[in-house]
Amino acid sequence: MNWRELGFNYTRTNENVRIVFRNGAWGEPVYTTDEYIPLHISAACLNYGLECFEGLKAFRGIDGKVRLFRADENARRMQASARKLCLPVPPQELFVAACKEIVRRNIEFVPPYETGATLYLRPILLGSQPCLGVRAVQEATLIIYASPVGPYFKEGIHPIAVAIDRSQDRSAPRGTGDVKAGGNYASSMLSNERAHDEGYSAVIYSDSVEHRYIEECGAANFFAIKDNRYITPKSPSILPSITNNSLRWLAADMGLVVEERAVELAELPTFDEAAACGTGVAISPIGSITDLQTGERIDYGPQVGKHTLALYNALQDIQYGRTEDKYGWCEEVGE
Ligand SMILES: Cc1ncc(COP(=O)(O)O)c(C=O)c1O
Repeated sequence: MNWRELGFNYTRTNENVRIVFRNGAWGEPVYTTDEYIPLHISAACLNYGLECFEGLKAFRGIDGKVRLFRADENARRMQASARKLCLPVPPQELFVAACKEIVRRNIEFVPPYETGATLYLRPILLGSQPCLGVRAVQEATLIIYASPVGPYFKEGIHPIAVAIDRSQDRSAPRGTGDVKAGGNYASSMLSNERAHDEGYSAVIYSDSVEHRYIEECGAANFFAIKDNRYITPKSPSILPSITNNSLRWLAADMGLVVEERAVELAELPTFDEAAACGTGVAISPIGSITDLQTGERIDYGPQVGKHTLALYNALQDIQYGRTEDKYGWCEEVGE
């Protein structure tokens, strides 16, 4: 495997797992090499988007050990997603045990430490019950598969250019933006594609009522640094990022004041540093933000801000076993 060439694409591994909820109970996990699933043509996930997913990573540490990062939090978030979509709710222990077993069964696909690549796990929960009418389902399938993925920054962490776009809303205040429903990604696809075509790495979404407050930055949360404060938006339509949660702890450890509050787009020019954070990127420093509607551009400069870099290093030091895991975020799964 040419680990250094990996992007964020699917690469086949050994096994994936399926666990079916039927007749009021979760069945035994079935591990398989089959990449396809038999699905009824009338399955609720195909017809009504009754589907949610998760994303988490296993890291090969400096000591060769493989660590899974905060899988219990992904389990809880999938439970929240399932509840909102009226899908059967997978128990936390079932979810975490299956994630760990998938890492073990694909252990040779956890990339070597020095490559910066990782093993990405993708749990998906499908409403698999045939369902012509619009209603909640009593049958669901939990699938967990794995794929090695490359580091987001192949040549080291550097700032990206992002765009503000008000032409499409990702989610409404009382919609599904706070859970990881596949439909959220469908509803922001057009805007995302347009920004990419124009050379931007991601879109900053604003609130769908006033287009005044910052919500998210692509498939990542947003944070900014100003006067020794870590500032991150709070809103009912933001996905609670596990990376952002981790960074808030680390920021406080570094002596930064953590503010989780409504953040206005108008504040953007006042920030010292801006960044996106999520499992895929860890932290992506933002170098510039262009408003696609007004043409205005804010520049944070070509260098990675010192607090952003310190947070990036602090997070990765824990994920790669280079420092004490004082919060107990990592679980060793094998070597
Ligand atoms: C919309 C959205 N926001 C934020 C995140 C970051 O969340 P996490 O840090 O848990 O990966 C993701 C990715 O999972 C996402 O898709």
